[in-house]
Amino acid sequence: VEVRLSIPAVDDWHVHVRDGAMLRAVAPFTARWCRTAMVMPNLRPPIDSWQSARAYREEIISVTQSVNPDFSPRIAVYLSPALELEDLRAGFAAGDIAAVKFYPAGATTNSDQGMGSLQSYLPLLEEMASIGVRLLVHCESTDPEVDIFDREARFLDDELLAVRQELPDLDITVEHLSTAAGLDFVRSHPRTHGTVTPHHLRSDRNDLLASGMQPDLFCKPVLNSARDRRALLDAVCEGEPRVSFGTDSAPHSMAAKRAETIAAGVFNAPFALEVVAELLHQEGALDALGGFVARNGWAAYGMDPPPFDLELVRHDRAERPRTVDVDEHTSVVVYGVEPARHWTVSRIPQ
Ligand code: DOR
Ligand code: ZN
Repeated sequence: VEVRLSIPAVDDWHVHVRDGAMLRAVAPFTARWCRTAMVMPNLRPPIDSWQSARAYREEIISVTQSVNPDFSPRIAVYLSPALELEDLRAGFAAGDIAAVKFYPAGATTNSDQGMGSLQSYLPLLEEMASIGVRLLVHCESTDPEVDIFDREARFLDDELLAVRQELPDLDITVEHLSTAAGLDFVRSHPRTHGTVTPHHLRSDRNDLLASGMQPDLFCKPVLNSARDRRALLDAVCEGEPRVSFGTDSAPHSMAAKRAETIAAGVFNAPFALEVVAELLHQEGALDALGGFVARNGWAAYGMDPPPFDLELVRHDRAERPRTVDVDEHTSVVVYGVEPARHWTVSRIPQ
């Protein structure tokens, strides 16, 4: 029997679309199936003001208009000492700033621009709670003594827990959940939401390391154990309302992914939806797809249903491109080609 289903347009709650030629090459993939996407601010220099957020939002719209005029990106600004409360307040009220993102200094790509612990921003976080701005957190301990596979759990225990308890009215998203411990944290605290990536649902550290290091699977937080992956996939299949789809699509050139120090990030925007659809199909849980990629986020953000729906059809394997070209010298490897060979996604005409 043919598998065919329709779901609401997707919301991607965590994506890197970069700038310049990379932006033009990658953002249209996100815009095709999304009504909105939460765009991360880790550019150089970072997006950390109302003005830079507005300009970035307009630039993204200008390069995605032709693929989907209904796509309306949201911008998260970078939490650093440069972020000013009055500017944040005005930018949020104007709709140009949607959330604030905290990166522990040095945890990942372009994250050396933050400064200080999460705790050090308590006064600003308190204001955010009162105006209703959500805090998005990259949860990884940067203590060099902490084992890389324990870094998410340690950050939650050592840093986020105190802030969570101090500010019960602050909306918090634990980004790119990679462990059962992260999922437990989300489930056990009110006003706490989590995003989950396609690659943390489908791949684990054996895939990353056991048959030789796979640079295209290297990301932060690092792919963790099979048990952690299973816990995340079970939560999605069971329809856990506290988690939603955040691709963390993070393109780097092939050269950067094969450099002596490998850039962290998985580029999954072209096939993110197909990867999740195939996983849920294999689990017999396709009925959970619309909740995960769309409805669960609506509650967290108080949103109405989107203006268009998607149709997904499963079929025999077809060819899919393995790379996306940015310019004549630069291309990016795409995640999820194999599962994507079974799916075709299209927009349902209104
Ligand atoms: O793997 C990652 N890549 N994790 C992040 O948090 C940032 C991202 C990037 O911007 O490349
Ligand atoms: Zn990210």
